[in-house]
Order: sequence, then C-alpha cells, then structure tokens
Amino acid sequence: MKEPVFFLNGEFLPRSEARISPEDRGFLLSDGVYEVAPFYDGSPFALREHLDRLAAGIEWMRIPYDVSRLAGVPGELVRRNGIADAPTALVYLQVTRGAAPRTHFFPAEPVEPTVFGYAKAWDRPEADRWEQGFSAVTVPDLRWGRVDIKTVSLLPNVLAFQRALDLGADDALLVRDGIAIEGAHQNFWGVFDGTAVTHPLTANILPGVTRRLVLELASEAGVPCSERPIAVEEIELADELFFTGTTGEIRPCTEVDGKMVGDGMTGEVTRKLSRLFRAHVERTATGG
Ligand code: PDD
Repeated sequence: MKEPVFFLNGEFLPRSEARISPEDRGFLLSDGVYEVAPFYDGSPFALREHLDRLAAGIEWMRIPYDVSRLAGVPGELVRRNGIADAPTALVYLQVTRGAAPRTHFFPAEPVEPTVFGYAKAWDRPEADRWEQGFSAVTVPDLRWGRVDIKTVSLLPNVLAFQRALDLGADDALLVRDGIAIEGAHQNFWGVFDGTAVTHPLTANILPGVTRRLVLELASEAGVPCSERPIAVEEIELADELFFTGTTGEIRPCTEVDGKMVGDGMTGEVTRKLSRLFRAHVERTATGG
C-alpha cells in the first residue's frame, strides 16, 4: 500500500518523513486543538463550520494562527492520498502552540504553531449492523470544564471508550451529575414521545456540527426537537437513542448498560433523521 501523505507545517510529506519535535507543546502539554471534517465522494461537507470551530478554539487558546491558511489543505490531502473517489473520507487537522522549552506559561519567545493534517477513507457500518443498532455503557464524565473547545486533551475520552470496549460495548456514554452528556466522540440524543432531545449547548458538550445540522433538518421536516439535558434515569423511558458525529453520522443506540432501548431495534425517528441527513449529503455533494 502506498504510504499516506501528511501535511506538516506547510509541506505535504510521506508519513515516514514527517517529524515533530519532542518539545512540541501538543505532545508535552496537550496545548493544541483539532478538527475532523468529512468528505463525501471527494467533496468537503460542512468544512466551513469545522474550520470556524477550529478558528474559535485557536482564538480562545490565544494561538497566533490564521486558519484561513488551511483552506486548501483538506482537499489537497484527499487528492494526494488517492481517496477523492472514496464515498466517505475524513480529514484530521491539528494546531498546537508549537515547540519550545517546556513551561506552564506560553513560550517567552514567539514560536511558529505546529500545523498537522492527514486524510483517510472511512466506511459506514454494514446496513444490518446499523439496523440492529449499537450498544453503549455509561461511564463517568471525567473531562475538564471547557469541553466545548475541541482540544487534544482526550485522555478521559480515550479511557471512557476503552472501558466501553473492555465491557464488550460499542460506545461510551459520558455521565456527569446524573445527566447523560454525550458520547466519547459523538453527541447524544433521545427520542421521547416523538420528540428528539439533545443536551443544550454549554461548556460541558462539544457543539457538534452534525448535531446542529440534524436540528436544522429535523425542524425543516417537522420533527419536534428539544435541547434539554437527559437524565440517566430517563434512558429506560426513551423510545429511541442515537449518537451524532462526523465519524458516525447518525448512529443508533439500542442498548445501554445491558438494557434494551425501546424495542431493541433502530427506531423510526432515528431512521427518518438518517434519511434526511443522507439526502442532505447527496444534495450538497452534487451542488444542489
Ligand atoms: N469527534 N462530541 C465529542 C466529544 C466529539 O469529540 C465529537 C467529534 C462530537 C461530534 O461533533 P461533530 O458532529 O462536529 O463531528 C461530539 C471527532 C469526530 C473526533 O474526535 O474524532
């Protein structure tokens, strides 16, 4: 297989030639932000929203970097990695404060931020697996107080997801103060009496691009939605549960902590929202 091509600090390089300093503050201090943006049939999808969120994170972290410099990079990564024909692909972008002698404050002398990106093809789950739905386990949300910023500090997410896998589940559902907040890398939704419910935008959840789009598509199609916290005790009352995110689109969840959700199969509202989402992707990809 041909070696992947990475983007690093302005250059496109084979993976084996890409080098980052051990003093990089992303490596030493998680002092960086990232994005994951989808491509469908070689076309970017909601790239503006992903780059805007990256720019907002960079600004909040006070990293001196203009995200508009990255505008052509995702498309070029997809092209150079030979996946412009892939039905579904992902582009990863990361910006750290750069390499400098380790301090708990910003580097005394200005340094260039480290800018990294790669692209890879991604496959949707098999249709029958999707119909059956996925399982999740609840895991305490040990993340910090500003998870609305997409920083690379993902240790609690990694431990939560690994715990889910160790327990034989497909996904982790993070719980804080009795509230089912979101997944380890996806937003969380419940359907109660036909209304699709998801956590409101606060510092405790990532403002998902997919989440926002699903809210818009649902509202256009007349599916009632509500942005309010979902208590863990409510989960067993839900007719349907699902996650949303770039890497899973709309992902049904039919079992939580070993208990069946609804009738144990992917539900009608989840199906409808997924159809709306796929149709929107098709329209966008064909420029309609
Ligand atoms: N994760 N919540 C968390 C904690 C996430 O990390 C993500 C995205 C989402 C969904 O956001 P969006 O719809 O914008 O992808 C929600 C990315 C894909 C990742 O870490 O790989």
